[in-house]
Amino acid sequence: MEDKICIITGANSGIGKATALGLAKVNATIVMLCRNKEAGEIAQKEIIEESGNKKIDLLLCDLSSQEQIRSFVDEFKQKYQNLNVLINNAGVMASKRKLSVDGFEMNFAVNHLAPFLLTNLLLDMLKMSAPSRIINVSSGAHKMAKIDFDDLQSENKKHRLFRVYGVSKLALMLFSYELSRKLDGTGVTVNTVHPGVANTNLGRDMSKFGRRFGKLFFKNPEKGAETSIFLASSPEVEGITGKYYIKKQQQESSNESYNEDYAKRLWEISAILTKL
Ligand SMILES: NC(=O)c1ccc[n+]([C@@H]2O[C@H](COP(=O)([O-])OP(=O)(O)OC[C@H]3O[C@@H](n4cnc5c(N)ncnc54)[C@H](OP(=O)(O)O)[C@@H]3O)[C@@H](O)[C@H]2O)c1
Repeated sequence: MEDKICIITGANSGIGKATALGLAKVNATIVMLCRNKEAGEIAQKEIIEESGNKKIDLLLCDLSSQEQIRSFVDEFKQKYQNLNVLINNAGVMASKRKLSVDGFEMNFAVNHLAPFLLTNLLLDMLKMSAPSRIINVSSGAHKMAKIDFDDLQSENKKHRLFRVYGVSKLALMLFSYELSRKLDGTGVTVNTVHPGVANTNLGRDMSKFGRRFGKLFFKNPEKGAETSIFLASSPEVEGITGKYYIKKQQQESSNESYNEDYAKRLWEISAILTKL
């Protein structure tokens, strides 16, 4: 991965940090996109120390703000000429209904609209740097969800965590498949990942019992990062696009995630919501 430039969102914690460390160890240049300066700097220092790789950069951005996403892209493009790997890893599981600064339901804003906007703004660079790879960290929770185009922001229903989170991840799946079709022939691939259930900070809103249970029974973040690292770096997946991976193996995602009409409709709506 020498000479490869990788952006990893949410690289200060959990699976994103483990992914950054794994790719740092194979000598990639890592740009950590994090929202919290202090947490980002602590993780950056740890990754440099543990990998011996000094090419670990930190750029700040809160992905719930579209203005900050646009500033991040401007800053990145001023500093770097290439982008070989984009890992949309950051995610939230907001258990109470919250709105982003742009007025969107938080799970939908961070888990779908943010990767939609960030990726689209970086597409020119990804194409110029081809062959290049986009990896979207989704979740098996997308299988529990149904898209309701009349209520994408989950305004009209009770805020049930796994339904709202699942919808945001289903939207990410639909976006990823549509993007892979649009990028056919460009040398830019797009694949999605379910990292498995890992003990990270994702469940910070859960009960004490839930978090203790997680510590005992869930896999560690390093295991959770293996498929993202594989998709970012392995020659085995060169040219493969539009697939869903679990434990480094291609798997079927939900029937609804393959609905091309839904994917086109969602793309149009997301483009309006992000003013693309
Ligand atoms: N853990 C699991 O069992 C599991 C299962 C399926 C899918 N996933 C997916 O895996 C990905 C990584 O999650 P994780 O489990 O490693 O959780 P985590 O430890 O909570 O890490 C999530 C990362 O995303 C960042 N993030 C959240 N909101 C952000 C925002 N508005 N702007 C910028 N960064 C933001 C967090 O930053 P802060 O540290 O500042 O909050 C953190 O760095 C997520 O997409 C998640 O949905 C996880």
